[in-house]
Amino acid sequence: MDLVRIGEPAIVLSTPEAAIELLEKRGNIYSSRPRSVFAGEVAYRSAKGALLPMGTQLRRFRTLMTASLGTVPSKNFRPLEDPETRLMLRDLLQEPNPAKYRGHMQRSVHSVAFCTAYGQRIDRLGAEHLEFYNSVERFFVRFSSLPGVRLVDHLPILSKIPLVSRWFCGEAEEQGDKEERFFRSCMDQAKSAYVNGNAIRASSWFAMERQERFGYTELELALLSGAPYAAGVTTTLGSCETFLLAILLHPHVLERAQKEIDTVVGPERLPDFRDFDTLPYIRAMIKETLRWHPFTPLGIAHATTEDDVYEGMFIPAGSTVMANIYAITRNTEVKIFLAALSIPTNRSFSSFPTPKNTSPSVFLNTTDPLVKNYNMTFGFGRRICPGQHVATDQLFIMMSRILWAFDVKPMKGGPKLTEIHARHGFFGPPVPFPYELVPRSDRVRSLIMEQAALAEEDVRAWKTLDYDL
Ligand code: HEM
Repeated sequence: MDLVRIGEPAIVLSTPEAAIELLEKRGNIYSSRPRSVFAGEVAYRSAKGALLPMGTQLRRFRTLMTASLGTVPSKNFRPLEDPETRLMLRDLLQEPNPAKYRGHMQRSVHSVAFCTAYGQRIDRLGAEHLEFYNSVERFFVRFSSLPGVRLVDHLPILSKIPLVSRWFCGEAEEQGDKEERFFRSCMDQAKSAYVNGNAIRASSWFAMERQERFGYTELELALLSGAPYAAGVTTTLGSCETFLLAILLHPHVLERAQKEIDTVVGPERLPDFRDFDTLPYIRAMIKETLRWHPFTPLGIAHATTEDDVYEGMFIPAGSTVMANIYAITRNTEVKIFLAALSIPTNRSFSSFPTPKNTSPSVFLNTTDPLVKNYNMTFGFGRRICPGQHVATDQLFIMMSRILWAFDVKPMKGGPKLTEIHARHGFFGPPVPFPYELVPRSDRVRSLIMEQAALAEEDVRAWKTLDYDL
């Protein structure tokens, strides 16, 4: 299939066996990215971490990401995730307007993702800031996650011919300049905060520390450091919204989760990170949310760097390879189809017995390691999402606190919700859907307000981004 760049094969993997064998076990040759001229080379001048091909720059970028977002350093952001979600609960309580729910969650998620890049928080989200951020994402989704949309991706020479290049690449140049200005100004602020000792070590700190050794230009320093902020907001927020939709469609899941929280945490305090290990059903809900409607159902395309053969099929170097995560976790149909044709098969095409309905308990009652340790929604092998620990922590604290505080209900008189709401095109969060958050008791209300007052004190210690775009 020639889907991405003319003449280069594109392969979509739809079984877990193939995805794991190729993208993980043979990761040494399956971890590059397809060449992206319009976005990667023109807009970002080869300095965008998520688009780097295999090689030294990628290895260095992944080192930065692991140093700031790995299993252990990801815990450095809990002291901000905690007060930010207490403030979010207050905002959800004080302004019980369903049209504003998204904004309250969004600010909290922006603040934490920004912190993972620059060690500082964001206390408000202006319209201009949001518009800029949305443009970063729109551009990535349209032109980067699957290159080949623009003619210049197929005929790179067009980007080198003066005057002509303006025609074919103007939009990319403009976007690249806009992002460079923003991320450089964040980097400058982060530098001075580090010098004054009032920001925690985030990706920008590790990049600065290694700038000389790695020979980073100012552009590389800015874009590579900013990667967690560029990648960490809509993915996490969209997954939280998918979770809310899932429990609206499956109220028995809400009931069971609240029962677990009431038993383990009780009504006299908010859930916190100490409860992570003792709330298995909530952890299972995170996995099920990510499986049910993955934010990136086809992940981000990988590319091969050497010729290879898989089950007799030749895969040339330079092929684009994608894992269809959505299909992988749902394809019991294949088994049923084979059975209907009386073709015997012992292969497990899906380890998920109820692929279309949400059933978090699948993750609890299994010995299948693929299900137990499910994380395919975060991608594969050497390109696996470096923000997965931060994202899991964020989802845990947001989901457990929302369920502790509120009953999540369909909007009275609102439209009937269906699974269709979960998909907003090829990539992205659910279609906006109406719902209500109803405080579970008066005690909940007063505790939220008490805790928010303490959270205001806690966040005072954090330096805040001063942005005027
Ligand atoms: C639920 C939330 C999230 C989901 C579903 C998600 C998913 C993904 C996926 C599928 C990839 C591509 C993996 C591959 O190529 O195989 C990726 C890459 C990436 N993610 Fe995430 N992500 C999430 C949250 C975050 C967060 C919170 C951060 C940072 C704080 C982050 C930072 C990144 C970065 C920097 C990359 C590029 C890595 C590379 O190309 O080597 N993500 N993510």
